[in-house]
Amino acid sequence: MNDIVEINYDYLEEKDIDTVVAIEEESNPVPWTVKNFKDCLEKGYYSLTLKEGKKVIGFAILSVSIEESHLLNIGLTSSKRGQGLGKELLEKIVIAAEVMGSKKIFLEVRISNEIAIDLYKTKGFKEIGLRKNYYRLKEGREDAILMSKTLKKGILSQSFLSSR
Ligand SMILES: CC(C)(COP(=O)(O)OP(=O)(O)OC[C@H]1O[C@@H](n2cnc3c(N)ncnc32)[C@H](O)[C@@H]1OP(=O)(O)O)[C@@H](O)C(=O)NCCC(=O)NCCS
Repeated sequence: MNDIVEINYDYLEEKDIDTVVAIEEESNPVPWTVKNFKDCLEKGYYSLTLKEGKKVIGFAILSVSIEESHLLNIGLTSSKRGQGLGKELLEKIVIAAEVMGSKKIFLEVRISNEIAIDLYKTKGFKEIGLRKNYYRLKEGREDAILMSKTLKKGILSQSFLSSR
C-alpha cells in the first residue's frame, strides 16, 4: 500500500493531456484524442487528474449544469487499477457535482464494461436505459447502459449553514 501514500488530486491542465491520452489508450477500444481533451478544457468542463506524486495516473471529466451533470470519462492507468483509486476518484466527482448544485449525475458505460458498471452500482448509480449502438468499436458498434444517481441537495451550503 506504500504506492498510494502520495496520491493527490489536481485540475487537468494542457500539459497533462499526452499522459491522459496514454491512459485513455489503455482503457478504450476507440480512445479519446488530444483534441477531445483540449475541447473539454476549452469548454470549461470540470476535469480532474489523480496523481501519484507529480505523475498523472488517472483522470475524470464532468460536464456540470444546475439540473444535471454528466460524467463524460474516467480512467486510471492499468497498473493502478483494483486498489480503490477509481472509487475514490468517482466519489470526488460526485461531490463536485453536488457542491456545484446539480440535482442528478448521468453517465454512459459500455455494456461489456463489467468492472465500471460494478463500480457505478457500488456508488449508488442505477441503470435507467440503454443507448443502442452508442459506442464505436474498432469494428462495429456497442450499446451503452445509461446510468444516473440522484445527488444530495447543496451539501456544501448545508454544512456551511450548520457551522454558523
Ligand atoms: C473503471 C475504473 C475507473 C475503476 O477503477 P479501479 O481503481 O480499478 O476500481 P476500484 O479498485 O476503485 O474498485 C471499485 C469498484 O469497481 C469494481 N471493480 C474493480 N475491479 C474489479 C474487478 N476486477 N472485477 C469486478 N469489479 C471490479 C468493484 O465494484 C469495486 O468495488 P469494491 O472494491 O467495493 O468491490 C478502472 O478500472 C479503469 O480505469 N478502467 C478503464 C477505463 C474505464 O473503463 N472507464 C469507465 C468508462 S465508463
